[in-house]
Amino acid sequence: MIKTDRLILKDHTKENLEKLNSWFNDKELSFYDDEEPFTLQDLDETEQYLVNKLISSGFNANKNIIHIAIHTKEGSLIGYCMIALIDKHNKKCKIGLTIGEKSQWGNGYGKETLQTLIEYCFSFLGMNRITAEIFSMNKTSIRLFEGLGFKKEGTIRKSVLKKSEYVDEYIYGLLYDEWKTT
Ligand SMILES: CC(C)(COP(=O)(O)OP(=O)(O)OC[C@H]1O[C@@H](n2cnc3c(N)ncnc32)[C@H](O)[C@@H]1OP(=O)(O)O)[C@@H](O)C(=O)NCCC(=O)NCCS
Repeated sequence: MIKTDRLILKDHTKENLEKLNSWFNDKELSFYDDEEPFTLQDLDETEQYLVNKLISSGFNANKNIIHIAIHTKEGSLIGYCMIALIDKHNKKCKIGLTIGEKSQWGNGYGKETLQTLIEYCFSFLGMNRITAEIFSMNKTSIRLFEGLGFKKEGTIRKSVLKKSEYVDEYIYGLLYDEWKTT
């Protein structure tokens, strides 16, 4: 568990089921977040995913992925994030985050979460490099990651099909040496 000024980042629990299910079924969230074709998920499917993937890959699971729930200090679940593809040999990993509670967008929670994940990856996991993949139309996410020092390293041209159009995907990267001098 990690506490920040306004947030608590901690392992998922079964109590997160209903909110996660509604977010996984939200077309707008999926538009920015997913490569798969959008398909509705029933509660049972989300429960399987929650138990088998999210809960079983918490902070202390010692896997190459860590799934984390984002709560406000008052206890409300507002989103989720993950540190994926943790490569201990090359000291690199990939970060993703979603503030599922759309009424909370623009309140700085994404930034607070990302700052905390960066610190955790570099200072606790000992990573040398963090990457993120962001679709070209996701202006908020681009501003968020660039604002915290990520550099655009490349473009995967016409990577995903969104609303019948092929959309580019950007690869962003942040190195330990760049972060520690900021
Ligand atoms: C992207 C996301 C995580 C950002 O979280 P958030 O809490 O809304 O963002 P914040 O309030 O921390 O703002 C982050 C930055 O984006 C800017 N921003 C916020 N809303 C914006 C908007 N609608 N358009 C452009 N920039 C915006 C903020 O000003 C801030 O930049 P600043 O620090 O330079 O002022 C959130 O909107 C989300 O979950 N979106 C859907 C899923 C998604 O896109 N996930 C990321 C996949 S890579």
